[in-house]
Amino acid sequence: MALRQIKHYQRDEVLRKKSKPVDKIDERVQILITDMIDTMYQAEGVGLAAPQVGILKRIVVIDIGEGVHVLINPEIVKESGEQIDYEGCLSLPGIRAQVKRPAEVIVKALDRNGKEIEIEANGLFARALCHELDHLNGILFIDKAIPETLEREQP
Ligand code: NI
Repeated sequence: MALRQIKHYQRDEVLRKKSKPVDKIDERVQILITDMIDTMYQAEGVGLAAPQVGILKRIVVIDIGEGVHVLINPEIVKESGEQIDYEGCLSLPGIRAQVKRPAEVIVKALDRNGKEIEIEANGLFARALCHELDHLNGILFIDKAIPETLEREQP
């Protein structure tokens, strides 16, 4: 098992950059995906995007407790409704805040075998998808947080 170091929002500019589409799902990409999954579970997160381990590729992994989803070059093709709830992020340890997100999303992507997939999600899964896809564009949840709900854990 190979863990990658999770980048920190105050130290790592990479989190603010836009990731590039994956054009070939080769051995390197497979290793990255496996490492991202291991790193996510080790850190007890529900999702991880490649820029969070310093790689500017459009890859996210998510597991909200129902098994892992791997999404390559994901795009939101439909969103509806809204929901407001707390979010945190492995790159912003000790911080949480409420964020408004769509209640439901449909996301298209490739899986790790290069097969086209379409995911319909609501609730926490929709929230996690929106949060992770934002990482691919250099956006962090604090950018969208409702300011008066911001909470910092005492160090
Ligand atoms: Ni995050």
